[in-house]
Amino acid sequence: MSELTTQRLDPTPIGLARATDLLSRGGLVAFPTETVYGLGADACNDHAVARIYTAKGRPSFNPLIAHVADIGAAQALTEWTDQAETLAQAFWPGPLTLVLRKRDNCGLSKLLSAGQDTVAVRVPEHPVAHSLLRAFGGPVAAPSANRSGQISPTLADHVVKGMSGRIEAVVDGGRCQVGLESTIIGLAGRPTLLRPGQITIDRLHDILGTPVFERKDTETITAPGQLTSHYAPHARVRLNAVDWQPGELRLGFGAVACDLNLSPSGDMTEAAANLFEYLHRLDAQQAEVIAVSPIPHLGLGVAINDRLTRAAAPRETPEPRT
Ligand code: TXA
Ligand code: MG
Repeated sequence: MSELTTQRLDPTPIGLARATDLLSRGGLVAFPTETVYGLGADACNDHAVARIYTAKGRPSFNPLIAHVADIGAAQALTEWTDQAETLAQAFWPGPLTLVLRKRDNCGLSKLLSAGQDTVAVRVPEHPVAHSLLRAFGGPVAAPSANRSGQISPTLADHVVKGMSGRIEAVVDGGRCQVGLESTIIGLAGRPTLLRPGQITIDRLHDILGTPVFERKDTETITAPGQLTSHYAPHARVRLNAVDWQPGELRLGFGAVACDLNLSPSGDMTEAAANLFEYLHRLDAQQAEVIAVSPIPHLGLGVAINDRLTRAAAPRETPEPRT
């Protein structure tokens, strides 16, 4: 891939106009959402979507989320259902992605859904994402703005570190508040949780008034967050560490002595917001092993443990440290 100069844009009207212009020309523009930074491209432009896969080094069977400004725009892309309406009314704008049947002639690039007849849609809450989507006026494909398999970015600096020279621009909107990718629910068949996130399966169940099934690990992979090794730092990750071994870097939770603490007071929301940033920071210290305190498997702890388990999973193709 020829080297690009990656511009850093401020979330001002001028910066957003520049970002919109780049998107309309098929450029790749990373932008903040409330969950993590997304790597945006015009979702109707095959070439632009293809460039996302190249920039991320992403396996082509991983489909992308179409980000839109409002419910009406999501309805134009999908076979909207009553369950979609109920969840969208309750959680949008916000960190929930709905997978629905794709509408014929929706105009989306076929690459976006990687050959499936469904599409993932989300209305993000972050004001910068919202302004960008409004100004652009069409769906924006945006996976997390990291190289495939690596830690998701929660700061513009993380994006620059992984993507500099591979994308046209990043809009710097500061730190992402939630810090974990959106919850994904499949609604094309029976409601199925495809990726845990801040909005828990219990809340989805309560709002829908019907059970939400959990995907079994033996089922076909339809979300890359479902690949076993994912969100991986270069260091090996040791989970549920109740004591620390010499030479390890320590990622704590609760009242423990450690190198970085996800939440000294044991607050799950704080821990989720810090998770990827702290993994980035510890990994930058060139550790062999990052040891992590146990995180209670309750509420948001389910999503945190999901990401940690994947970060700790054996790697199929270990990335050399560069
Ligand atoms: O919070 C988020 O969702 C972030 C921000 C940028 O919005 N985006 C994100 O995108 O995490 P990505 O590409 O890293 O993860 C999208 C997930 C993948 O696991 C993908 O396989 C799943 O959505 N997905 C997309 N389309 C799908 C479909 N048609 N069926 C099932 N899963 C789908
Ligand atoms: Mg990702």
